[in-house]
Amino acid sequence: MNKQELIARRMKTLGPTYQSFFDEPLHLVRGSGTSLWDAGGREYLDCYNNVVSVGHCHPHVVEALCNQAATLNTHTRYLHQTVVELGEMLVERLPGDLEICIFTCTGSEANDLAVQIARHVTGNQGVIVTEASYHGVSELTRHLSTDSYPAADRPEWLGVIEPPNLYRGPYRRDDPEAGQKYLELACQQLDALERRGHKPAAVVIDLAWDSNGPLAVPREYLLGLAAEVRKRGGLVIADEVQAGYCRSGQNWWHSDNYGLQPDILTCGKPMGAGHPLSLMSTTRDIIENYSRKYHYFNTFGGNPVSAAVGKAVIEVIESEGLLQNAHDSGTYLEAGLRELATRHETIGDVQGFGLFWGLDMVLDRESREGFNAQQMRHLGSLIAEQGVITGTSGRYGQILKLRPPLPFSRSDADRAIAAIDTALAQLQI
Ligand SMILES: Cc1ncc(COP(=O)(O)O)c(C=O)c1O
Repeated sequence: MNKQELIARRMKTLGPTYQSFFDEPLHLVRGSGTSLWDAGGREYLDCYNNVVSVGHCHPHVVEALCNQAATLNTHTRYLHQTVVELGEMLVERLPGDLEICIFTCTGSEANDLAVQIARHVTGNQGVIVTEASYHGVSELTRHLSTDSYPAADRPEWLGVIEPPNLYRGPYRRDDPEAGQKYLELACQQLDALERRGHKPAAVVIDLAWDSNGPLAVPREYLLGLAAEVRKRGGLVIADEVQAGYCRSGQNWWHSDNYGLQPDILTCGKPMGAGHPLSLMSTTRDIIENYSRKYHYFNTFGGNPVSAAVGKAVIEVIESEGLLQNAHDSGTYLEAGLRELATRHETIGDVQGFGLFWGLDMVLDRESREGFNAQQMRHLGSLIAEQGVITGTSGRYGQILKLRPPLPFSRSDADRAIAAIDTALAQLQI
């Protein structure tokens, strides 16, 4: 179908909440590994889509999905071996004493349930999140998504803390006390929340700070924040929708890299490599407390097809050594990006971890004034013209984001860096 006709039909039927990337929207029709193809047959390198964690249309995952879909699909009201096996595989990998899995379909549902549980077991209503955070779209989690609505509409039970951004925030890399100072800012917001009559039920932390960056934050800040929330009676919810599932190249979960032991961990996107599968995991004590009063059933969460897909994704990660690959290719990519920043004044900062990197794009290194939305869109479009797909994020929308599928190779990294290099040379701002 003609692209302009498809755009017109899409706008007519799907509404303006559906947005597309790039000046010239992409019409993708096929994917394999780290490659995508458009309707005209052009191949692109995918540097953006972490959801397809093990690569686009991985044959082992597709086979598991098809076999189970052709055999049986029901729900968790009946016994089924596969969902139990998926739970066992996850518990083996989850941090500390997280030993209970509740399967949901989206990150929003997992976070929504996590906060409901935290409120019940603590008896508190307050929730702490970061400025410019994103945690989902349900009525509860959209309020936790401070990047998605005006600050004036924030509920009084919400405490919003400063993201510990060591490049752009109030305390920076040259300050050895930065972690402690960010913690003090967080404590001020916890105090303010209590003055509004709310003790914290939980702090919800996106371990990647994706909508701010990604950020690599001081360990003492994170551990100090967790301790402070617990001291005041709240739980620690690690939102690993972005940061988890080997993305860091060091451990399955980014919490483990910081030595953080969450009370609840949530995940979603990468678990089903494109199939809707998500997780709320917690300790036995917490879930038993919650279950004494409440019952939870999710029609599609943990169904046999989703469970078969979830198992297949873990099998691929293990059999193809994708944790190690995220480390190796991630280290290589980081070095290439840092070298690029020595040649392009517009790259103000390179920040991230594993296979998750952000370039903070600036008009001026001194003032750190960031690119605006139109400049970022233009940059992304120029990179796409080079055959490489990237994304944007950041508190001010000024981050060029690279977050590819885990099988991303060194030669993929070379290709991505060459494309960004060319695009930055072409860019006129
Ligand atoms: C950190 C984080 N948490 C939660 C969500 C919500 O997940 P979903 O879109 O599957 O509801 C997202 C989605 O982008 C996310 O990035």
